[in-house]
Amino acid sequence: MPEKILILDFGSQYTQLIARRVRELNVYCEIYPYNNVPALTDEVKGVILSGSPCSVRDAEHPTIDLAQYLGKLPVLGVCYGAQLIAHESNGEVTPSTIREYGRARLSELHTANRLMKELTPGSVVWMSHGDTIKEVPDNFEILASTDTVRVAAYKLRDQETYGIQFHPEVTHSDEGKTLLRNFVVHICRCMQDWTSEQFVDATVAELKQQLGNDKVVLGLSGGVDSSVAAMLIHHAIGKNLYCIFVDNGLLRKDEFANVLDSYKHMGLNVKGVDAKSKFYDALAGLTDPEAKRKAIGRVFIEVFDEEAHKIEDVKWLAQGTIYPDVIESLSVKGPSATIKSHHNVGGLPDFMKLKVVEPLKTLFKDEVRLVGKTLHIDDAILGRHPFPGPGLAIRILGDITPEKVQILQQVDHIFISNLKKSGLYDEVWQAGAILTPVQSVGVMGDERTYENVVALRAVTSIDGMTADWSRLPYEFLADVSNEIINKVKGVNRVVYDISSKPPATIEWE
Ligand code: XMP
Repeated sequence: MPEKILILDFGSQYTQLIARRVRELNVYCEIYPYNNVPALTDEVKGVILSGSPCSVRDAEHPTIDLAQYLGKLPVLGVCYGAQLIAHESNGEVTPSTIREYGRARLSELHTANRLMKELTPGSVVWMSHGDTIKEVPDNFEILASTDTVRVAAYKLRDQETYGIQFHPEVTHSDEGKTLLRNFVVHICRCMQDWTSEQFVDATVAELKQQLGNDKVVLGLSGGVDSSVAAMLIHHAIGKNLYCIFVDNGLLRKDEFANVLDSYKHMGLNVKGVDAKSKFYDALAGLTDPEAKRKAIGRVFIEVFDEEAHKIEDVKWLAQGTIYPDVIESLSVKGPSATIKSHHNVGGLPDFMKLKVVEPLKTLFKDEVRLVGKTLHIDDAILGRHPFPGPGLAIRILGDITPEKVQILQQVDHIFISNLKKSGLYDEVWQAGAILTPVQSVGVMGDERTYENVVALRAVTSIDGMTADWSRLPYEFLADVSNEIINKVKGVNRVVYDISSKPPATIEWE
């Protein structure tokens, strides 16, 4: 097991960012809700306490037994974490009298201290708190202040315990990364040897051990996560990995054949299953988005189960679960309320009685891509836009027919191939077309037409949580619109969606 930093989550919106910044330093870390932390092991080199929307002054504030950590290994409290340590050490935490939100500048820096090494006086940091640490006990040394905050950073004199009231993990803190490096490298003495090459070697070795000669089944979707998971397991057990790629009739134009082909080139033992008609039958007449999602999920499980049963003596089910899914299901607040019956249609039921193997469950999305690169997976797969499991079914508003799917596939294909041709594809997080149930008047040749309206949607985003519409050039939109109207029978009007998320979502259903 690699050495690691534990991050205890008290519910801050920035906790995942702390983890990403630490990992960018090639140091492995794990996030746990403050009330469900595993016991310390030798691999743990330091602990970071996150921020929180709560106040240590509330009777019911989230807390932990700090004695487990303080003085035993290096600890860094960030914002609430720093206030909690101060509060429990008989310091004084009071409501801020002036606004402590936004940029501030560090002064009176103790650069001789290891946490502050190489930080420059005046360095900009991001503040976001409603409480402030007013007084600290004598065994606290103040390491930095700002104009309005006297105790911006502190250290306990006799131990490696630190607190900072600002957020080094957000990019608005100019030297936040230096401070985090100081903590994990100079104070916790982590080796910075957690790289994607190291991850691949260690994971393949572990998978060999864990899986031995057992057979494993995995559902490929054409997306990044399942493809990378498959390649890792393939490196460990070769032909004992049985991949299943289901054509649900709701994929992009030619996607099934193309992706199947790339998988075969990658050496994967993959079976393509044409189940289009089963999905169309189950969807016939359904208009409610949730009902459509559920029908697709159900048929997928039926098809997958039938195929898995054909593999004699299969023991394991592999899944491309990634770290944000794991964190969400463990989070302080519990799994976030289901707005759509999202997102992994491939979640399989217990009746399959298979043991589950999830080789990517400690990685963030961009780390999965890096691992994919290390495994030499084609850029065409690694750079693909995310695509929803229920596919075009949630981009055809209303009921689904094979004819509508065909129309939308042509529209989508024109949009996506033009994005690729003009070099815009990689600037966009996700793009697609929506077939609306609206008909509008047009003129073709000498005839009046009354045909469908399609909408184009392209968004920029970092993580899919929030998104903004892509400012695609007008000329580009004009060309795509002309091509769609000229080539796709059944469409006479094209509109472009300029809603941001939230309040809108990326998909229309
Ligand atoms: P929304 O529309 O919620 O989408 O902003 C966020 C991301 O999730 C994808 N998405 C889905 N993925 N099953 C999936 O596997 C679904 O039912 C589903 N609905 C939305 C969407 O494409 C976007 O990337």
